[in-house]
Amino acid sequence: NPGAAPPRLPFSRVTQEDLAFFRTLLPGRTITDPDLLKSSNVDWLKTVEVCPQGGNTGLVGGSVPVFDEIILSTSLMKQVITFDNISGILTCQAGCVLENLSNYLEERDFIMPLDLGAKGSCHIGGNVSTNAGGLRLLRYGSLRGTVLGLEVVLADGRILNCLATLRKDNTGYDLKQLFIGSEGTLGVITAVSILCPRKPKAVNVAFLGCSSFQQLLETFQCCRGMLGEILSAFEFLDASCMSLLEKHLKLTNPITESPFYIVIETAGSNATHDEEKLHKFLEEVMTSSLVTDGTVATEATKIKALWSLRERVTEALTHEGYTYKYDISLPVEKIYDLVQDMRGHLGDMAKNVVGYGHVGDGNLHLNITSPSKDPALLAAIEPYVYEWTSKWKGSISAEHGLGLKKRNYIYYSKPSEAVALMGSIKAMLDPKGILNPYKTLPDNIH
Ligand code: FAD
Ligand code: MLT
Ligand code: ZN
Repeated sequence: NPGAAPPRLPFSRVTQEDLAFFRTLLPGRTITDPDLLKSSNVDWLKTVEVCPQGGNTGLVGGSVPVFDEIILSTSLMKQVITFDNISGILTCQAGCVLENLSNYLEERDFIMPLDLGAKGSCHIGGNVSTNAGGLRLLRYGSLRGTVLGLEVVLADGRILNCLATLRKDNTGYDLKQLFIGSEGTLGVITAVSILCPRKPKAVNVAFLGCSSFQQLLETFQCCRGMLGEILSAFEFLDASCMSLLEKHLKLTNPITESPFYIVIETAGSNATHDEEKLHKFLEEVMTSSLVTDGTVATEATKIKALWSLRERVTEALTHEGYTYKYDISLPVEKIYDLVQDMRGHLGDMAKNVVGYGHVGDGNLHLNITSPSKDPALLAAIEPYVYEWTSKWKGSISAEHGLGLKKRNYIYYSKPSEAVALMGSIKAMLDPKGILNPYKTLPDNIH
């Protein structure tokens, strides 16, 4: 199984002398108690038996040790360093929890340019290291654009201070990009500066039902045209996801049952103007029968409740047993074909085959469950799912990274020349291979 752990590389083992050194370096913070270590050694999906670590919410086995690597946690690095309320540029330490940063900024009339279901636990350093996408990417773009600077500790201990707070800086290569999305394999991010948008004065959320994926796509097209600059998210989940939300989390479907559900968010500066636009759009999609039913929220509690229906699908799935997770980029019109194809391909082997994700970004989350780990099911899914994705020129990891689980499938989305160049960069920055070994790069590159 190419997603399984490779053999241990010949690193030395941690000795009592090493522990004594760490105790002098970080008095009281060198943790060896197995009970205390549990929350750091087992990831969110609880699939890896036992690296840089942020909130440990990563979904590809990248944030936990494979053998006996030392965990370098950023959880005590949670200071905001500066915030400039004219430019909207925030500079903070890597261990700041995303939700805490959002709350800090909202008090100052700004927001973070990214938002995701794991916001209560994930750290900004982890977000940058995975180049996390999330729910607002459609509006504010990827971290490759909003991150303005990074401070990074390199494998040899040098501190790379590229913590710029400039919108424009064309002085040579943009080195920070190397660390964005490199999953802790090239350096440890210790601080981040990031460009934050103003807090929108008016936010509306619509939760709609569609009877086919084709109609959902037409609704998306219509929505882009009619909502234009105020559209901030266009997300979807299918009926199987809704059943799991109802069954395991006791959430209530606020509209008539449909094969597909959409979450649309608008964020703008004028409530009357935004509501007028949204209502015209809703009238259009209802009268043309693209949408079968819907509800709208403008009030914070109801907005949160509608968002839960999309954000908590990940959590609902964990109650079904074991989840095989796929995070695929495809031309948007193809994204649900993969779910349907997979249902036909797997037949009764899978308990659930569900689809949800970021329609606006052409990003499908295909999740397949079975009561427990099932090697025969896995063999039927992989490499089939990756071959399918590659045939349509998609990406086998849209936003979660490769970590341990997907490292050997990189060739489905990248030419061998590109992977070899990644290997050269790794060898240059981390010649001893001590940063997050066994992750991201395929086994033939280490
Ligand atoms: P961790 O899980 O701790 O680490 C992730 C990777 O980054 C690891 O390889 C780790 O070694 C490395 N790393 C962490 N910190 C540093 C650092 N300071 N320096 C160098 N390397 C570091 N992802 C999305 O893209 N979009 C979503 O919408 C989304 N939603 C999610 C919802 C839920 C409920 C969950 C559980 C996860 C979700 N994720 C999503 C996946 C996950 O990638 C993000 O939650 C987040 O970006 C990971 O941050 P973290 O601090 O938890 O990082
Ligand atoms: C999401 O969009 O909900 C996240 O990426 C998490 C997941 O894929 O389950
Ligand atoms: Zn996602």
